[in-house]
Amino acid sequence: MLQALARDQFPALLAEPGVVYLDSAATTQKPRRVIDAVAAELAGPAANPGRGAYPWSSRAARRVAEVRERVARFIGAQGPDEVVFVPGATAGLNAVALSWGMANLADGDEILYSPLDHSSTVYPWLNLRDMLARSGTRITLVPYSVTATGEADTAYIRSKVSPRTRLIVATHVHSLFGSMTTLEELRGQIGCQVRLCFDCTQSAGHVQVDVTGLDADFVVFSAHKMFGIPGTGVLYARRRVHPELAPFLPGGNSAVRLDEGRLQGLQMPERLEGGTPDLPGIAALGAALDFIDELGVGRIAAHGQALTRFLIDRLREIRHLTLLPGVAWGQCSAGYGIVSFRLDGVRSDDLGFALSAHGFYLRAGRHCLPAGSGYEDSVRVSVHVYNSGAELSRLAGVLSGLAGGAG
Ligand SMILES: Cc1ncc(COP(=O)(O)O)c(C=O)c1O
Repeated sequence: MLQALARDQFPALLAEPGVVYLDSAATTQKPRRVIDAVAAELAGPAANPGRGAYPWSSRAARRVAEVRERVARFIGAQGPDEVVFVPGATAGLNAVALSWGMANLADGDEILYSPLDHSSTVYPWLNLRDMLARSGTRITLVPYSVTATGEADTAYIRSKVSPRTRLIVATHVHSLFGSMTTLEELRGQIGCQVRLCFDCTQSAGHVQVDVTGLDADFVVFSAHKMFGIPGTGVLYARRRVHPELAPFLPGGNSAVRLDEGRLQGLQMPERLEGGTPDLPGIAALGAALDFIDELGVGRIAAHGQALTRFLIDRLREIRHLTLLPGVAWGQCSAGYGIVSFRLDGVRSDDLGFALSAHGFYLRAGRHCLPAGSGYEDSVRVSVHVYNSGAELSRLAGVLSGLAGGAG
């Protein structure tokens, strides 16, 4: 049976042994070292990084710089200048819209996106279109479809790419379908005017995120879904797009200059940052990276894959249960920790409550997809390093009972 990779390092799980936490796609539990790192940050001398001429301030600036360098190595960036700290994935995607979209898009330009992605990966482009329209610039959002396995339909995308396409937005691992999209099939087939933006919120900390392998211009993810804490995230912006990025959050700590009354952006990544950095969150992210490195991304990925396949096999035995599009419908080697399903005749909210009463904490309902996605009434199981095969077996047993017995 598949053992948990690391359960004993999570105080919240040790405190409630009766709970099976299966909602890591919403947020992960925090390992002891992350909790300790936040406590140490708060217990130490408070100082605003880079704003004081005294050692506490320069030490704080050094701590931020070190974590930035760690993040750059973690995602295979060329350097720390490509790593912008943002409050989370939602903020990162909106930063792309505001910093890049507002400054670069012209009348008639097009953005390709999937309306079945997480709302945070959809709404920033709708908002960008409306903001540009107010100043007389009309851009078009071109929706693309997903396949039965829940991946972006690259053949469809290829057919929709036009000379006016400026941005393709994709989710690396989908928050409901659990499938992986890399757009690899499009490499070398799209013009150099097209920028690629990947939402890696559900892949970071689960599998290796390699911005070069993805050929990404922008990548976003949230620290709290990879053992860090809420309020911190990363926007990767590739060097080649730096000339196209305008300040969108100018203020104290921003790299900007006033030139004859006009604001000019200076060096990256500080051009896109403003205000006092989130020091506890950045410290937590550093500790989360230590935790992930210690376990090894490869081992974490193998664990996630084994649990996913194990769960799919158990769920397939349950009568009246339908698996949503996703890895269950594709290659039997794929699995990234997320599986979603429906049970005939049972509302997912009711199922969520029933499972919660049995100690299984998971996600049921709308799943943050835009309204009208058609997948509102479903249940999502999402696992991480603290989950085991025994937990998933017990879940399948309870589900089977609720469904009226195994088929
Ligand atoms: C794929 C994806 N993108 C973006 C987000 C938004 O993340 P945050 O709320 O941390 O900004 C989520 C959160 O569930 C997600 O799953």
